[in-house]
Amino acid sequence: MDILAQAKKLSQQGKTIYHMEIGEPDFPTAESIIDAGIDALKQCKTHYTPALGLAELRDAIAEYYERKFSVKIDPQRVVITPGASGALQLAIACLLDVGENVLLSDPGYPCNRNIAEVLAAEAIAIPATAESYYQLNAALVAKHWNKKTKAAMVATPSNPTGTLMPEKQLIELCQFIEQNEGRLIVDEIYQGLVYDAVDYTALAFSDNCFVINSFSKYFGMTGWRIGWMIVPEDCVGAIDRIAQNIFLAPPTISQYAALTALKEETQIELNARRDEFKRRRDFLLPALEQLGFEIAVKPQGAFYIYANCERFTDDSFSWVKQLLNEQGVAVTPGIDFGTHLANKHCRFAYTQSLELLEQAVDKIESFVRR
Ligand SMILES: Cc1ncc(COP(=O)(O)O)c(C=O)c1O
Repeated sequence: MDILAQAKKLSQQGKTIYHMEIGEPDFPTAESIIDAGIDALKQCKTHYTPALGLAELRDAIAEYYERKFSVKIDPQRVVITPGASGALQLAIACLLDVGENVLLSDPGYPCNRNIAEVLAAEAIAIPATAESYYQLNAALVAKHWNKKTKAAMVATPSNPTGTLMPEKQLIELCQFIEQNEGRLIVDEIYQGLVYDAVDYTALAFSDNCFVINSFSKYFGMTGWRIGWMIVPEDCVGAIDRIAQNIFLAPPTISQYAALTALKEETQIELNARRDEFKRRRDFLLPALEQLGFEIAVKPQGAFYIYANCERFTDDSFSWVKQLLNEQGVAVTPGIDFGTHLANKHCRFAYTQSLELLEQAVDKIESFVRR
């Protein structure tokens, strides 16, 4: 937030800012999705829906899994949520009581630990290194699992590292957690934004996981605040009651727009955007390596590169502030994602055009060679 505020201030002073700190697609929502939202408004679809979401959309999501991954899901297990953020809150509220804990990776998505804390539960951050693709694995989870552990959370592809969890690693993790009567929460929000690797869903391996997804990233609908979660059958009732109390219902207009987002015609446009993200990654990754950043695991998804900047600093927070002030390039310091080696890392988001990324790399070069 400090970096964002400073970037805004510099921008207001007329300075050109290269936004590599932003975790959302730069593309606007696809026109067909916007039209569907406008139609819903014009047809006065402005009332509450059921707390678990429109039956039509829950069916469409079940069909989406069948079409894309050949995985059959009972639509009753599909819960529509206000973004993946809403799903994360519901999952943690459902699984953890006061004083219980959830295991997650450091580095990892920062809101998860805060959501657990708000619910008076504990988030135990486990240092994850390049060896496990910056992801949890069964051995790491086994080491930290205790009597009060109820769940573990992973995201694949991950924020901030863009790394995928190999299927075998996920299956072993699932097995360990099921044997210990816990639940695995798998955040698949960056599904669809996967490059030169096979995209998969944890639903192919287990019916006991909570699988979270969103229309924010691949579907380009961040501001519509709409996502979903597939929950184990025995948890649907509890999730329904929590959703009724916390959110009442997910946004109605966005649910109608989401129906269009899932259509095969829309996917053609979204896949073209995914290909553009890949082009950007293919430019930025070697460019950063050439400048001296170390990127231990090739990111194969999302739109992030998690880079070791140890060659330049042992205090990445001050370093990114200086980079912003001197060259107008905004990136996110490692401290945002945890504490493990955070001072030696920063995250570059390629949510800008290739042209702007090229200019930003020139600026970064001037900074590191100064
Ligand atoms: C890993 C991860 N999960 C969840 C979210 C929340 O996304 P939303 O609530 O927009 O769906 C984000 C947003 O950046 C994220 O990176």
